[in-house]
Amino acid sequence: MEREVLLNNGVKIPVIGLGVYKVTDPGEIEVAVESALEAGYRAFDTAQMYRNEQMLGQSLKNAGIPREEIFLTSKVDLGNMGYQKTLDTFQESLEKLQTDYLDLFLIHWPGQDKERVLETWKAMEELYQKKRIRALGLSNFNPRHLEWVLESASVKPVLNQVEHHLQFQNTQLALWCQERGIRMQAWSPLMRGNLTQPQLLALAKKYGKTPAQIVLRWDLQNGYLVIPKSVHRERIFENIDIFDVELEPEDMALLNSLHTGQRISHDPEVFDF
Ligand SMILES: NC(=O)c1ccc[n+]([C@@H]2O[C@H](COP(=O)([O-])OP(=O)(O)OC[C@H]3O[C@@H](n4cnc5c(N)ncnc54)[C@H](OP(=O)(O)O)[C@@H]3O)[C@@H](O)[C@H]2O)c1
Repeated sequence: MEREVLLNNGVKIPVIGLGVYKVTDPGEIEVAVESALEAGYRAFDTAQMYRNEQMLGQSLKNAGIPREEIFLTSKVDLGNMGYQKTLDTFQESLEKLQTDYLDLFLIHWPGQDKERVLETWKAMEELYQKKRIRALGLSNFNPRHLEWVLESASVKPVLNQVEHHLQFQNTQLALWCQERGIRMQAWSPLMRGNLTQPQLLALAKKYGKTPAQIVLRWDLQNGYLVIPKSVHRERIFENIDIFDVELEPEDMALLNSLHTGQRISHDPEVFDF
């Protein structure tokens, strides 16, 4: 299994990155970043909404890792959408992250206003043309929201970051995106740590891996990119130690059958602010 894959615009992305949602303590983020870099992570997923871009930028700077070795993702907040606000808050994100470009910039949620999405995308396309962003993407977009962008975009989205885990498997959406060359990236891949399904525990035992490692490996084998979050050094190492195991087809099928439809967060079909 490759540790990096190509996006539809030729940019390479690591298949696993560190998520930092809800991490707001500078000490915690410092330890998480140091541990992640040591464990081999090169991708970091933040968002304007997480209010930790500054801390992440400082921790990466403290770590002394060359900028070009890092794949940095952020997302425009729902409240910051629209043409001018996107341009302005993108610049703020860059300053907080102490960088002059992002590898990936996403629209965090589509909301229900098509024009607001298109104005935001237009600003992102401009930033892409000016080489301030290496790849443009979306998050929490269903096919009808994706159509809004695809109908008029001059730069195609490279991926869609969506809720996807054992309980809520976004299989139809994944097929839809796959047919259009748009990669899927799973958020909350660990179901926020709620990994108690007996079938999962049995598979962990069978493969000599932890439940977290099994679900992350299951995602990779299903073609998803993953961004598990942890602030604990040992878990950060554990979550990336998934390249020496291969789940058999019947075990993949078993995990694929555990979908219950229960979401952790908002339904993009109705969510707005
Ligand atoms: N685009 C979006 O709308 C969206 C929405 C949500 C999340 N995201 C992104 O996706 C990332 C991941 O999602 P998430 O943070 O919601 O949830 P997650 O990665 O599914 O789970 C994180 C939780 O699992 C625990 N954990 C981590 N490794 C573990 C392990 N090996 N065994 C047991 N528990 C473990 C963590 O605890 P400790 O930290 O205490 O170890 C934390 O409580 C976010 O950080 C964010 O970057 C995006």
